[in-house]
Amino acid sequence: MGLAANIETKLREAQYRAATTAKVGWFTSFYVMGRHIVGPLTSPGEVPKATPTEAPSMGDMRASFFKLFDDEWADVEAKRYRMPREFRTRPDPVAAVRKARNYLDEARAVARRSKTKGGGTEVRETAPDGLPAYYRQNFHFQSDGWLSEESASVYDTQVEVLFTGSADAMRRRALPAISEEVRRLVRERGSEKDIHFADVACGTGRLLSDVADNFPELTVSAVDLSGPYLEKARANNAHAKNASFIEAAAEKLPFEDGSVDILTTVYLFHELPPKVRREVAAEVARVLRPGGLYVHVDSAQYGDTCMDALLEGFPKAFHEPFYDSYAREDLPSLFGESGLEPDGQRIGFLTKASSFRKPN
Ligand SMILES: C[S@@+](CC[C@H](N)C(=O)[O-])C[C@H]1O[C@@H](n2cnc3c(N)ncnc32)[C@H](O)[C@@H]1O
Repeated sequence: MGLAANIETKLREAQYRAATTAKVGWFTSFYVMGRHIVGPLTSPGEVPKATPTEAPSMGDMRASFFKLFDDEWADVEAKRYRMPREFRTRPDPVAAVRKARNYLDEARAVARRSKTKGGGTEVRETAPDGLPAYYRQNFHFQSDGWLSEESASVYDTQVEVLFTGSADAMRRRALPAISEEVRRLVRERGSEKDIHFADVACGTGRLLSDVADNFPELTVSAVDLSGPYLEKARANNAHAKNASFIEAAAEKLPFEDGSVDILTTVYLFHELPPKVRREVAAEVARVLRPGGLYVHVDSAQYGDTCMDALLEGFPKAFHEPFYDSYAREDLPSLFGESGLEPDGQRIGFLTKASSFRKPN
């Protein structure tokens, strides 16, 4: 590498490190405030139950956390994907403060619900009847479950606070596999537009935003059961030039057999009962074209990292009725039942991106 290129790389790394440090610092401060608002997870006088597994040391957790950013920088440096859009655009301090205030207000509502019997299913009283029962819950004790604009507006901040600024970087563990596949298909077909990419349970469209930043011409279908979350995804993804936003269930995808080249789900499966996971796996396999790629992104599972004790504690602190069974699910066998074959994986802090391929 020549001197000029070397200096440019060092400057880009400095930009990446400064931006991630600022982001982690910002969300860590709200993590601390949020913990203060929610208070202890046990009632006064109650002795907290020990987790069966020994807690990881702070040093091990910190090493795993920072490795996520080291791995991401290595991917950016190797041009597997672009410097993330969030670190290239000028921050909007007014919006950041507004979102943080909304987060703190919502933390109070979450704290109340977490200490109220039935707080995890409060939304059942107002949710439309047509939605599946497992879906009509206040996952994470959040107000309105998935079913309001307010919930969609505060969700991204809640997730970033929970993971102290690492959530987007964890989702992006899916990007190297997606980029490699898109580039290969472009070489075969000549254009991005001829590639059908679907993000199922897209939420507010965070992964989509990074995919479209790298490949703005892709034909994109963003699917979610929540109208308000889809609207947020649409607003966040104006740079995706050929995108459709479709309100539909993952277990009944609105696509023809064999019509999708690349399909992703991010943080969906741990929110599904085991039976529904199998239905969705079968739908993924049905809609993928032979040879197509599925990138499954979700929580790390038992045995993946040194942080099993965190996985044990998580569903107790938050309303996550299906999380524990998800953390024990054998993914190659779950997707193998539908004919998909493992095709590599990347772990980043508390998230695992696992690729599966539909055989030709
Ligand atoms: C934990 S959020 C993840 C959202 C997004 N993928 C992300 O990375 O933040 C779960 C999302 O899955 C959606 N969802 C849950 N069950 C669904 C289903 N059966 N079909 C479609 N979407 C579903 C919810 O509406 C919500 O937007």
